[in-house]
Amino acid sequence: MSKCVQQKPDNSFLDDKINLRMSALDAIDKQNINVLDLFHGYGKIWEFIKKASTKNIDIMPVDIKKNLPGFYVCVDNLRFLKAENIERYDIIDIDAYGLPFELIEIIFRKKYRGCVIVTMISSVLRSVPKSMIESIGFNYDEVKPAKAIFSPLIFDIMSDLLYRNNVKKIKLVNHENNHGSQIWYFSFVIE
Ligand SMILES: C[S@@+](CC[C@H](N)C(=O)[O-])C[C@H]1O[C@@H](n2cnc3c(N)ncnc32)[C@H](O)[C@@H]1O
Repeated sequence: MSKCVQQKPDNSFLDDKINLRMSALDAIDKQNINVLDLFHGYGKIWEFIKKASTKNIDIMPVDIKKNLPGFYVCVDNLRFLKAENIERYDIIDIDAYGLPFELIEIIFRKKYRGCVIVTMISSVLRSVPKSMIESIGFNYDEVKPAKAIFSPLIFDIMSDLLYRNNVKKIKLVNHENNHGSQIWYFSFVIE
């Protein structure tokens, strides 16, 4: 029996990701920049940016996958984010495959001030997480059988979280990939 292994797009639409990060760097009036990279992978994005930017960029790389090359903290980023003092970072980079709603909730809960850069992907088969559904006032257990109805609202639910936390401006690029997944790249500053 043949097995189809679908490759996850580690860095699809790389230019958009890089542009978002370069403009975040430009907007920070500092020469030395600390970045918390919560989905580090092979670190390709920041490796490129470090070469392209004139700023001194110090990365704290985090990834759950074992045996990646170079230095990184090998742990679930949710655990890391809960435990870490995030005040010292100028940028928190959330280059996720899925819906990193809980990570962003934690960042707000910790009263972080700084720039957050996000990749958010909603695939056709991915269900909307409990935390997202509950954030807009629904009882998860009651709506669970019909939770597919929340899928078209993913970006609205995320925008609602940002708005409730006084983020009134975001930079956004939205794509649909050739598997029908919606991909959002966005950044915002928490003042
Ligand atoms: C899109 S890739 C990141 C690409 C990377 N930003 C780059 O510049 O090359 C996503 C990475 O997130 C990691 N990851 C997925 N879930 C994670 C989690 N819960 N905690 C930490 N890392 C995670 C995966 O192992 C994968 O290496």
